[in-house]
Amino acid sequence: MERGKFVSFEGTDGTGKSTQIAAFVDLLKTEGVAVELVREPGSTKIGERVREMLLSPEHSEMAPVTELLLYEAARAQLVKERILPALEKGTWVVSDRYADSTWAYQHAGRGLERVQVEAANELGTDNMWPDATVVLALDPDEAFKRAHKDHAPDRLEQAGLAFQKRVYAGYLELQKIDPARVVVIDAVGAKEEVTERIWRALATRLALPHKGHAKKGA
Ligand code: TYD
Repeated sequence: MERGKFVSFEGTDGTGKSTQIAAFVDLLKTEGVAVELVREPGSTKIGERVREMLLSPEHSEMAPVTELLLYEAARAQLVKERILPALEKGTWVVSDRYADSTWAYQHAGRGLERVQVEAANELGTDNMWPDATVVLALDPDEAFKRAHKDHAPDRLEQAGLAFQKRVYAGYLELQKIDPARVVVIDAVGAKEEVTERIWRALATRLALPHKGHAKKGA
């Protein structure tokens, strides 16, 4: 049985990530790929409870290290309970955020030491990294406006624009550190256009069929 492939999507808040993930998963299904979609933090019973703790604006006193360890706790459970079993049975996994979020938010954003965040990520992921990671890149000012249009900000979004700018810079740095895995995609443009960009960028990396792309010339 061939192992499934693992793809993660990343970006600052407000890049249209969820929409693009849904489109990518639909395209994979059209190609006959068995795929599971998960989100971080969450997608397990324990992880969803940790998610509430992390995102609740009530927890304004949360220390950065507590935040780091809670994200890793949720991740460890997700890896063990869902990601590894799915990959082992040949199912692909697409994750809305993964350990690169911790690099970008807790290291670049919150300022926790790189070595500490990397050590925590090793533990939380059990050293299991995606075959490919898509970072949706949008100017932080624009992303910030979009993120705050339709809902009250959660605890992380309350950290403000300067924080989102550091997170954005963190993602770009990550791409330089690991260019074989991390691909940065321009998130500006029509939804279909961005979907096609993503498919094209992943086609070679994941040996995707080239016919899977959205409308020609879109
Ligand atoms: P969510 O509503 O899922 O945000 P989005 O729709 O932008 O993905 O909330 C997750 C928040 O948690 C988001 O602000 C990013 C943050 N986060 C971290 O700070 N560290 C992490 O390791 C992860 C996975 C997420």
